[in-house]
Parts: sequence; structure tokens; C-alpha cells
Amino acid sequence: MVKICCIGAGYVGGPTMAVIALKCPSVEVAVVDISVARITAWNSDVLPIYEPGLDEVVKQRRGKNLFFSTDVEKHVSEADIIFVSVNTPTKTRGLGAGKAADLTYWESAARMIADVSKSDKIVVEKSTVPVKTAEAIERILTHNSKGIKYQILSNPEFLAEGTAIEDLFNPDRVLIGGRETTEGQEAIKALKAVYAHWVPEERIICTNLWSAELSKLAANAFLAQRISSVNAMSALCEATGADVSQVSHAVGKDTRIGPKFLNASVGFGGSCFQKDILNLVYICECNGLTEVANYWKQVIKVNDYQKNRFVNRIVSSMFNTVSGKKIAVLGFAFKKDTGDTRETPAIDVCNGLLGDNARLNIYDPEVTEDQIKRDLSMKKFDWDHPFHLQPMSPTSTKQVNVVWDAYEAAKDAHGLCIITEWDEFKKLDYKKIFDSMQKPAFVFDGRNIVNAEKLREIGFIVYSIGKPL
Ligand code: NAD
Ligand code: UGA
Repeated sequence: MVKICCIGAGYVGGPTMAVIALKCPSVEVAVVDISVARITAWNSDVLPIYEPGLDEVVKQRRGKNLFFSTDVEKHVSEADIIFVSVNTPTKTRGLGAGKAADLTYWESAARMIADVSKSDKIVVEKSTVPVKTAEAIERILTHNSKGIKYQILSNPEFLAEGTAIEDLFNPDRVLIGGRETTEGQEAIKALKAVYAHWVPEERIICTNLWSAELSKLAANAFLAQRISSVNAMSALCEATGADVSQVSHAVGKDTRIGPKFLNASVGFGGSCFQKDILNLVYICECNGLTEVANYWKQVIKVNDYQKNRFVNRIVSSMFNTVSGKKIAVLGFAFKKDTGDTRETPAIDVCNGLLGDNARLNIYDPEVTEDQIKRDLSMKKFDWDHPFHLQPMSPTSTKQVNVVWDAYEAAKDAHGLCIITEWDEFKKLDYKKIFDSMQKPAFVFDGRNIVNAEKLREIGFIVYSIGKPL
């Protein structure tokens, strides 16, 4: 029986390994983590992450060929294939701070593998890492030269949160990069055999190591660039009277462009787009490619501009001040169908409004009060460095009220802003909401999910992204 161990039981490690266990009953899969709380949750009825379809997959295989454990060393030493799926955040201090990837977690995992291994291993980079990381990892793994052979593969993950299980069941492609030596090709074959249990062969792409590492950063950069492109257009639409949904539709009908990922929004969030682009920018700069670095930097600048624009629009339309006004914030997660708040635009919007002294009533169906308050008090990039979390600032504590219902959030509010596109926000009784709000009642739709015309008939003043008033 092939034994797989995955270091890192997070948003990627957990779902990916659960699906491998489901699709490959002949493979034993152990997911390990240094976080006792996370592993305890994976072994309980309430999994540590919310992801549609995940519960069923875990329940089917847990205790059979899928195990979650904190005994990292035991499972690593027994495994044939070791996936490393630890966090690779943006550095907050030292060389490259604010841009470069912090590989501390990766390096400590690699050192541990080298220390406990007693047999040859295939080590798979599942985390998103800078190009050429495999070379550094190889050096760490072989530093104590016990005669053990390691093959490093790059097998980046392309799943999106909220659709992780669907994406893993039916991936557009699986990418495996390895050394162009006989041993490297053998290792690629072994990993390919795992995915071949359910992924059609033509969708498994094999490349050299550096192409695989760079393709992951490139894919995220291209995706984020599409959103910044449509968001840049949304500003022009607001200035000219064009409607961004109509523009997106017309542009996306060109089969060379395609219709997906062209929804204008309050800005993209999530743990990876910004981090991976900053990482790409840093690599370009290190290679003296200033123009290329500046090109990609602009994707983030436009995203920041879009979030600021949203806040400014709220403040300016509410007679240039939100001081003391109650604003209902609907949605805090970075997208629907996840409880993940990493880099969510909600943080910037809420902090912008708090900066102008607003009072916030926040509601999200999947995000806890603790999480929201922690997010609003943390410094940029600190969220992915669990060891130096900041305490909650007193101002935000007073001005933020987390509630468990959209109607409750809207009560007595002067304005309502929609940050996450949860389906339930499309179906709310907006007449009831209007009646409970202060007048004039404003709606700022950061996702273009409400029917603005109908809301205007009720009496709301509605601002949608990239649409005429
Ligand atoms: P995460 O923070 O949810 O999970 C990482 C886990 O690794 C944590 O539970 C942490 O405790 C554990 N860990 C850190 N160091 C460890 C060590 N030395 N030994 C054992 N456990 C350790 O992160 P994630 O969202 O799963 O992302 C992991 C990687 O995958 C990142 O590089 C990310 O860029 C990439 N990625 C993420 C997504 C996504 O949707 N979240 C998608 C594709 C790729
Ligand atoms: C993204 C990629 O889609 C995955 O392929 C990749 O594996 C992952 O990053 C990663 O490396 O972490 P994810 O961040 O989970 O996945 O979610 P997306 O669906 O890509 O959405 C990212 C952000 O863009 C969200 O805030 C979303 O609301 C926003 N978005 C997306 C828009 O504003 N408009 C769109 O048209 C699409």
C-alpha cells in the first residue's frame, strides 16, 4: 500500500488529501499538522473549515484510509510520498518584507523530513512557492547526508475556496513538475499514478520543476489581472454612464476572452492573489526585470484603488460624513460559500468606515464574531503569521457590533453595504429592511447582486459598482 503524508492540514491539505483518500482506496493518507486545535477539529464533527461537500468526503474515508494526526514525525518517516502544504505568507520583516514569500514554515518542515526519514522519499511542493524553491529544499533535505534519496516534485494546487471539492473532483488540469533525470521522471510517474485514479491522462500536465513553480504564480496573476481589468472598467463606467455588466457580457462573448472571472466587485480578496503577485513582483525585481515587476504591481494597485473608491463613495454619498452613523455590513468572508476572511475586502472597507468614525453592524453567515474582531485589529500581512497576533484596538471594539441576522444588522442603519455575494442576500425582504432603516436609506452593492431598480422603487438610494445611478 502506498503511503502518503501531507504536512499542513489547512484549506489545501485537508480537502486535497480527503479527495485523494476517497478516489484511491488503496492509498493510505495521513494529514499532519503542528496545530493541535486544527487536528482535533478534523477528527470531530465540526471540521475546521467550511467547504461545501467536504463533510461527506471526510466522513466516508476518515478512520479507513484517511487519518488526521499531530504525530508529524511518525507519519513522515513512514510515508513514500510527502506533500508539503504549509502556509507561505508574505514576509513582514527583513529582506523582501512586504513582498517576498516567507518560507520559514516550509523550511522547518523540510528540516524535519530530513531529520526523521529512514527511507527514500518523494517530496511534493503543494504550497505555492517562489520559482527555484525546489533547489533550496533539495539542499536542506540532503544536508545531513544520511544516504537517503529525495526527489522533489512541484504539484501546485489550483482549487478555489467554496468550490474546492468540485475543483478537486474535476480539475481543469493537474500540474506536475520534476527533474529531467531518470529518477525525476520516475517520481513524476509515481505521483501521476495517484491522480490517474480519477483525472483523465490528458489533463495531467508534466513539466520541468521551474515551469510548474512559475505556472502557479502566473495563473493566479492572470486571474487577478482579469478582476483588476474589469474593476478598472467599472470606474470608467461610473464616469461615463456605461454599465459594467453589459460591458463584461459583450467583452466575454469573444471566445478568445471568455465569460468567466469578469464580475466587477469591491475588490478581490483571499489568501493568495495579493500574496502571490507580490511574490512574483519580488522575483522579477531580483532578476532586474523592473518593467515586468511594475506591470504586475499595477494589478494590486488597482485592487486597492477599487476598495478605496468603494469607501469614498459611501462617505461622499452620505453627505461627506459617516461619523456616528450606523452602517450595516452584509458579508465579511472574501467570497461566498466560505468562512475564510484572509485578505477579505471587508477588512479594508470596515477599517475605512471606522476611520471616518462610523458604527458598524456586521453580519456574515459563516464568520464568527471573534474572527471579525481579530481581523479588524490586525496589521497588514499579520494574519498568516499566527505567532505575532495583535490585540484588539479599543476604538474598533466600541464601534463594531457583530450580529447574527441581516435584518438585525439593518435595523436603524443609515446605509447597508454588501461585501460578500452570499445567495441569501439576494433573497432578503428589502421592503422590511427599508422600513427598519433611517431615511434616506442607502444601499451600496459591492457585488452587484441586488436588483437596483426594484430597490429604488421601494425608496432606497442605490449605488452599484460600475453602473449608472
Ligand atoms: P493554511 O494556513 O490553511 O494551512 C497551513 C497549515 O500548515 C496550518 O494548519 C499550519 O499549522 C500548518 N503548518 C505550518 N508549518 C507546519 C509545520 N512545520 N509542520 C506541520 N504543520 C505546519 O494554508 P492553506 O490555505 O492551506 O495554504 C497552504 C498553501 O497552499 C499556501 O502556500 C497557499 O498559497 C497554497 N494554496 C492555497 C489555496 C487556498 O485556496 N487556500 C489554493 C491553492 C494554493
Ligand atoms: C484563487 C484561484 O481561483 C485558485 O485557482 C487558486 O488555487 C487560489 O486562488 C489560490 O491559489 O489560493 P480563491 O482565492 O479561493 O481561488 O477564490 P476565487 O474564486 O479565485 O476568488 C478570489 C477573489 O476574487 C474573491 O474575493 C472573489 O470574490 C473575487 N472575484 C472573483 C471577483 O471579484 N470577480 C470575479 O469575477 C471573480
